[in-house]
Amino acid sequence: MALWGGRFLKKSDNFFKNFNNSLKIDYILIKQDIQSSIAWSKILLESNIIKEYEQKQLETTLNFIFQEIEKNPKKILLSDSEDIHSWVEKKLIYILGDIGKKLHTGRSRNDQVTTDLRLWVKEKINYLKKNLIRLQESLVFLSEKNIESIFPGYTHLQQAQPIIFSHWCLAYFEMIQRDFSRLNDCFKRVNVSPLGSGALSGTGWKINRKKLAHLMGFAKVSNNSLDSVSDRDYVVELLSIASIGMMHLSRFSEDLIFFNSGECNFIELSDQVTSGSSLMPQKKNPDALELIRGKTGHVYGSLLNILVLLKGLPLAYNKDMQEDKKNLFDALETWESCLNMSKIVLSGLKININKCKKSAEKGYTNSTDLADYLVRQGMSFRDSHHLSGKIVLYALSQNKSLSELSLPEFKKFSELFNDNVYKEIDLKNCLDKKISRGGTSKIQILKAIFRSKKQILKNIST
Ligand code: ARG
Repeated sequence: MALWGGRFLKKSDNFFKNFNNSLKIDYILIKQDIQSSIAWSKILLESNIIKEYEQKQLETTLNFIFQEIEKNPKKILLSDSEDIHSWVEKKLIYILGDIGKKLHTGRSRNDQVTTDLRLWVKEKINYLKKNLIRLQESLVFLSEKNIESIFPGYTHLQQAQPIIFSHWCLAYFEMIQRDFSRLNDCFKRVNVSPLGSGALSGTGWKINRKKLAHLMGFAKVSNNSLDSVSDRDYVVELLSIASIGMMHLSRFSEDLIFFNSGECNFIELSDQVTSGSSLMPQKKNPDALELIRGKTGHVYGSLLNILVLLKGLPLAYNKDMQEDKKNLFDALETWESCLNMSKIVLSGLKININKCKKSAEKGYTNSTDLADYLVRQGMSFRDSHHLSGKIVLYALSQNKSLSELSLPEFKKFSELFNDNVYKEIDLKNCLDKKISRGGTSKIQILKAIFRSKKQILKNIST
């Protein structure tokens, strides 16, 4: 039996009932529905709407219902209740009879559902933050281990300038830090209680909404009841953050897939996160990373889904909004598992240090430094840039790296060349010169590692 049978003469069509029910999705809000219901019972008592013994019984029974189901919330799915709110209320009435029927006084499922969802989101944000921190820790750990690993840096997927592998790790650290700070910002807007907004126009009972909010751990109360029950901005916001976060993880994955390719062979992924081919025995495929890259599309889809769902939706609550949860739950679950997968991938990652260094040399990543050398010898940068290009062309034809060219070969291009050119174009020297803040010199990397560690400690405490 639905909670709203009075006005109806006919029973719901079975197909409609199944179509309309959201229990299979929102049953995971059980903890939050119990939490907000207990808070509501307390406020009903405070407002003299129910008696003390009634509140006690409501609270005890709500706790009992939760304890009974906590270990296996899937048991809820055996019921044909419309949603989790109806399920809890029906249970309460089944156990307590008339007292159970009092809990919904002054409350609507419209303010209840968004209250529960906000409570759930708050908890989820904290889990996501923990996962972000764990990935940051792995990146810092890897960057500390690779402080000497020379690596080819790319632009346009062409070797550009040498970097230290740690620099790559710390680049992703920064992206994840921004995801972290976006979650913190979003949390502030989620941390607002809509309960007491009723169906749309507020509640006719004199209740202390501030106290109610604090009972549930919210920092503030919402200002407008019409907005409160219609607002799903926080779902949009969270899915945007998740989409940005997944975009970062997919770039991370793509980088590693490329570095791991037979052509690059810069890194080796652990057997634990790769799989073989059913036909080709030599294959070791980067499945974990490909899946992260692939799952990104699913998260973007969820963002688009909620945006389209809300577009042009009139105020206040409409049943369309019931469709907000499936995608939110799936997308955040996906993001969380991809963060965890990325961390596992990093923990087994091996860098082929020699291959990386050789490749950076053969990729002429030090040609900017060759041009800079000529500038120091007195040539203008535009001319030295042109001349270095010519030297690269020549070195390519000889199948040599720049440092493999002899001094007479250099001198054929300019008399300004001296023995000291070799020190200038030595990759290590090229790296050490990048001393600008955030650059790839060892000094700057060490500073960045220090900053990152401090940031992690700060993140842990927020
Ligand atoms: N199950 C609904 C949802 O998830 C909440 C119920 C609101 N129902 C209503 N008829 N106003 O959005």
